[in-house]
Amino acid sequence: MADSVAVTITVNGQGREAQVEPRKTLADFLREDCGLTGTHLGCEHGVCGACTVLLDGDAVRACLLFAVQADGAGVTTVEGLTPSDGALSPVQEAFREAHGLQCGFCTPGFVVSVTAFLRDQPNPTDAEIREGLSGNLCRCTGYQGIINAVRLAASAEGNLTSASTIV
Ligand code: FES
Ligand code: FES
Repeated sequence: MADSVAVTITVNGQGREAQVEPRKTLADFLREDCGLTGTHLGCEHGVCGACTVLLDGDAVRACLLFAVQADGAGVTTVEGLTPSDGALSPVQEAFREAHGLQCGFCTPGFVVSVTAFLRDQPNPTDAEIREGLSGNLCRCTGYQGIINAVRLAASAEGNLTSASTIV
């Protein structure tokens, strides 16, 4: 790859080095170079939120960033939210419990966005939850199950501590 660029990105706590084309998106880097296919691609132009990951703690759209822009940074994908013992994170558990999953295609993006949202806003009102979810689209049915899941995650004992450890 003649015009490739070397990048080093810490993904879910693990250093990843790769040679990438400058035009390669962070989403494609995560899926193709790291094998982390939990980051989904829906619209690929910044509208749906399915590709949401945390970049140094901030929720970002991985389809709108080039991998080279994340060089030297830390990325957390939906896979990185799962505790090492294989249990579900509090947000994942709440989605399961409150039927926040429908087809599941949008779910990784929602889970990542909600994890960052509750870390920053641990006691949200319903209006704040709706606003917090507004960057993620679900094509299946309504959003009520998802909103219920966010409420449940916010009220779950221990959630705030766990969510606040995500960087
Ligand atoms: S795939 Fe990135 S916002 Fe839709
Ligand atoms: S659960 Fe199907 S698009 Fe969201």
